[in-house]
This record gives sequence, C-alpha cells and structure tokens, in this order.
Amino acid sequence: ESKSKSISIMAKILDGLKVSKEIKKEIRADVDKIVAGKRRPPHLVAILVGSNGASMTYVNNKIKDCKEVGFKSSLIKFSSTVSEAELLETISELNKDKDVDGFIVQLPLPKQIDQEKIIMAIDPRKDVDGFHPENFGKMALEMDTFLPATPFGILTLLERYQIDTKGKHCVIIGRSRIVGKPMSILMGRKDFPGNSTVTLTHSYTPHIEDFTKNADIVITALGDPNFLKGEMIKKGAVVIDVGITRVEDNTEKGYTLTGDVDFESCKEIASAITPVPGGVGPMTRAMLMKNTILAYKTSVYND
Ligand code: GUN
Repeated sequence: ESKSKSISIMAKILDGLKVSKEIKKEIRADVDKIVAGKRRPPHLVAILVGSNGASMTYVNNKIKDCKEVGFKSSLIKFSSTVSEAELLETISELNKDKDVDGFIVQLPLPKQIDQEKIIMAIDPRKDVDGFHPENFGKMALEMDTFLPATPFGILTLLERYQIDTKGKHCVIIGRSRIVGKPMSILMGRKDFPGNSTVTLTHSYTPHIEDFTKNADIVITALGDPNFLKGEMIKKGAVVIDVGITRVEDNTEKGYTLTGDVDFESCKEIASAITPVPGGVGPMTRAMLMKNTILAYKTSVYND
C-alpha cells in the first residue's frame, strides 16, 4: 500500500459469479417445474479422455453444475490411449440415446485422435458446446442454434450489465475456434449485444497495442498471464478477460489461475472489467447448462 493516497476511479466489476448464480437459479426453477410435471430432467453427458489437470477440473465442475440445476449427468472416462474408432462408437451411441439431451467431448484430445472428425460425428442437435460446423455456420448466419459457452457467457454478461456495444470498436485478441473466432462473429452481428465494429487480432498481429488503444471493448483470449496493461487501453474501455492460465507458485494448490489482463493497472483506466476468477469462467459454466436445457426443450423426444 502506498502512503500517498491518490484518488483513482475504479472500473465497475462485471461480476460473472453473481450473474452465473442468477442464471443457474433460473434454470433450476425451470427444471423443478419440468420434474413437478412428471417429466424426466435434462441429461448431460461429458466425455473425458486422459487426465489433463485442467480438463479434469472443467469436467468435474460441469457435473457439479448439473447437480446444482437439477440435471441428470453422466461422465464417460477414457484413457489417453483410446482409439478414434472407440470414441466414434461412443458418440454414435450417445447420438441415438433417447435419454441423452446433450453431450460434450472435453478438449483438447490426444494427438492420435482427429479432433475435427470427433466433432463432426456429434449430432448437431445434441452439440451443446456449439462446436459442430453446422452449428458454427448457423451462428455465423444469425440463425437459432447453440452458441459456444464462453462467447455465449460473455454476451450474456454484456447484456445483463447493459454494456453499450452498438457502433463500438471491439478488439479481440486470439482466434481460437472456441472463443476468439466465434466472438468476433457474434460482436459484429445485427443484435444486442453486437453491432460492434470488430478487429480480430492474433499472434501475427504486429503492435497489438496500436489496436487495443483504440478499442471501446477489449476481449482477451490468448492465454498469456497479465498481457494487457493499463497503458495499452483507452480511458473508459470495457475489458473482458477470458484467460485462465495456471501460473505455478507456492500456494497450497501449487498454482494460481491468472488472467490475460493485468487487473491492477487496467482497473484504473477501464470503465468496466471482468475479474479472474469470478468473471467469464462461471458464465461459461452457466451457459453450458443453458444450452443443455435448450437441447432438452427442442429435443425430438420431448414434445
Ligand atoms: N476445452 C476448453 N474449453 C472447452 C469447452 O468449452 N468445451 C469442451 N468440450 N472442451 C473445452
């Protein structure tokens, strides 16, 4: 703590944890009604291959969320040596299973497995991750479909905090298939949140600060701890941090989840900012539940 107290205006915290709890409560109320009407609850299945620490945490959290909102959940585990054929067989069974509304294959997959082939095998109607090309295409064309959970979570956070996005310059850092690329499409769509002018930057963009300094909204999804500094953003910018890198340290866990945004310097300049943890992460989790109940309600097996 510095002795000379300087007056600084602190950005509004976009509290993803709080909003995610509201969303899960809404879903829970919906499920309670379904079950009270003597119908089965929604059922989500997660497939986990191998024992990647982050992947295990993500999948366990998804199962926990299912319990919280009243869904049935199943976890199918494979060793990291599983064959592509074996995985495809499991997907084929889940596609046919009338008791399964949605399922996800946790990424990344081991090298011997062709990720695209796996994603293509998922019935788009059960693809609650929104990763199938059919769903990605529908998203890009602004048709109703499952939106990938993280972009969906960011949109919902912007919506609930009534962040003005129309005509704003949105700069996205990172072009991954699950965050940066879909986010760049969604921010430019003709809707709210959306109607932004979008710049998609990535590892080959020279002088990223030249772009971020001119952004009204910055969305970071690059996985580089504390990359975005206060001096790289415009006064009053809205900063959305998707990064969650495990940075090793001497804490009990052995690591601390660290965002792409240098929160301390950015909070003085930004008008609104998501924290890590408690920002985008819990929103992502809530939106998977949202997609699952949507899959249930639109299922051909549930009038
Ligand atoms: N790996 C990192 N994020 C995700 C996600 O949202 N879904 C799946 N299936 N795998 C992931």
